[in-house]
Amino acid sequence: MINTAKLAALLTVAVLFLAGMAFAQTDPGVQSANRGAGAALSSVLSNSPSGILSFFTDGQSRFETVESVSGNSSGNNGLGPRFNSNQCSSCHAQPAVGGTGAATNPQFLFTSNGVAPGNTMPSFITATGPTLEARFPYFFNTNGSVNLNSPNGGVETLFTVTGRSDAGACTSATALPQPSFATAVSENNIIFRIPTPVFGAGLIENLDDSTLLNNQVNNLNNNVGVSGTFNHNGNDGTISRFGWKAQNKSLHIFAGEAYNVEMGISNELFPQDRPLPGEDGQGGTGDTGLVSTCLNLGGAGYPEDTSNPAATPNSAVLDDVSAFANFMRFLAPPPTGSVVLNGQTVSNSTISTGASLFVSTGCSVCHNPTPGTTQPSGFTSSLNKVPVNSYSDLEIHNMGSLLADNVSQGSAGGSQFRTAPLWGLGQRIFLLHDGRTTNLVTAIQDHASHSSEATTVEEQFFELSTTQQQDILDFLRSL
Ligand code: HEC
Ligand code: HEC
Repeated sequence: MINTAKLAALLTVAVLFLAGMAFAQTDPGVQSANRGAGAALSSVLSNSPSGILSFFTDGQSRFETVESVSGNSSGNNGLGPRFNSNQCSSCHAQPAVGGTGAATNPQFLFTSNGVAPGNTMPSFITATGPTLEARFPYFFNTNGSVNLNSPNGGVETLFTVTGRSDAGACTSATALPQPSFATAVSENNIIFRIPTPVFGAGLIENLDDSTLLNNQVNNLNNNVGVSGTFNHNGNDGTISRFGWKAQNKSLHIFAGEAYNVEMGISNELFPQDRPLPGEDGQGGTGDTGLVSTCLNLGGAGYPEDTSNPAATPNSAVLDDVSAFANFMRFLAPPPTGSVVLNGQTVSNSTISTGASLFVSTGCSVCHNPTPGTTQPSGFTSSLNKVPVNSYSDLEIHNMGSLLADNVSQGSAGGSQFRTAPLWGLGQRIFLLHDGRTTNLVTAIQDHASHSSEATTVEEQFFELSTTQQQDILDFLRSL
């Protein structure tokens, strides 16, 4: 039996709960239907110019190819000796090939499914956590303490080929140990990055520098404390724009780097197998690189990925890196259209109210809805003088102590990040550069901290009424 006092208490709890539901702003979560992400640009789909469609489809299938260390008769060899995964699409998976990390992390199974049997699973790789890449901000002293005077910041590859049946003579885990992840975690000298999606990346690649520079000039007079600068390519001095710190110039260079860093496959852009930063003389002298028993495991010499002069059709002549770059360049931007959140279609008026509030609150100072129109394209008409609705100025901004990762890349310092392009956000599961949250509200809160350029705008967001905040969240999940 329930007495009146208990009943009253229960009712109060119920009323508070309902009030909370009605008045607190909540992230509606990932869109329920895939609106068609992962398709080619329309002019590529209509094969204009003639032959281009096969460059897309061939690049797509190579992006999905699982690579072996050696002995694969299809020639897809060269994996390792160090690697984070064995397939581009394992990390670029959500909501379609080319996207970001999936709900289930494929890396978690690598020690049990034969991909990395001789390895220990790092503690931070979990079954349903984000797909990750790790870096140590600083080198360690020989006694295991962190050397704050010796910046590292290079990728610490998670796995090695030891224990695999196709690893040839490279079987000794003492000759090829994994980095000391347990020490790095206990010494708090490790940071993470999650995959960025590449839908629409060909449009971002084809924005000219003057368009971006003019946006920057027009934004100088904002009254919310946002400054911002660009990262530049060290070789030709132009604006670089790919990666969490806008550290990379082009899709081609990113593809070459990813093939070598993520998968250990040397190529025409990066012709040597990659040791860890601490094996490659970057932390001082005395390093001797990868041991000879772990070199040229594919047996066909370097680079492990080359062009294929005798192949047909035309697209098959390309090396894998060029094919990856074409696939990514020819991917359409995330499709827009009607959106279903929490099982309900969101009205156009909610979305347009949210879009206006996103601008009036100051989010668009950095997340510029349309930073510009592409320069004329030598590839295909869908890349030619078209608007880029990326919700990013492609600048790097000081994001404060809470987001800082103490890793410098190019001219981007430890707390600077590229304004994350928000197109396709409605289908992203893990948010911010290290995937620390799945909740949009937390992602927005983390914009504010000591010295962040986004602090004033973040405060303005939380001064809005809860209905207005909800409109912005619904708008964001409509992207
Ligand atoms: C182990 C997971 C993993 C694999 C495998 C992987 N990537 Fe990535 N990718 C990432 C991460 C993490 C980032 C973000 C890196 C950063 O900026 O710090 C990224 C970013 C990118 C970007 C930048 C996109 C943008 O707009 O910022 C491109 C392009 C890319 N990857 C291409 C590739 C290609 C091509 C392959 C296969 C050769 C590949 N990736 C394999 C994890 C992966
Ligand atoms: C000073 C520039 C700036 C302002 C102002 C700004 N942002 Fe951001 N935003 C960024 C940067 C830079 C990142 C990437 C930060 C990181 O990952 O560490 C980001 C990331 C995000 C993300 C996560 C995207 C992803 O793919 O993980 C969301 C969501 C977001 N911003 C929404 C907003 C909203 C909403 C506002 C307005 C209330 C806003 N931002 C204001 C620069 C800004």
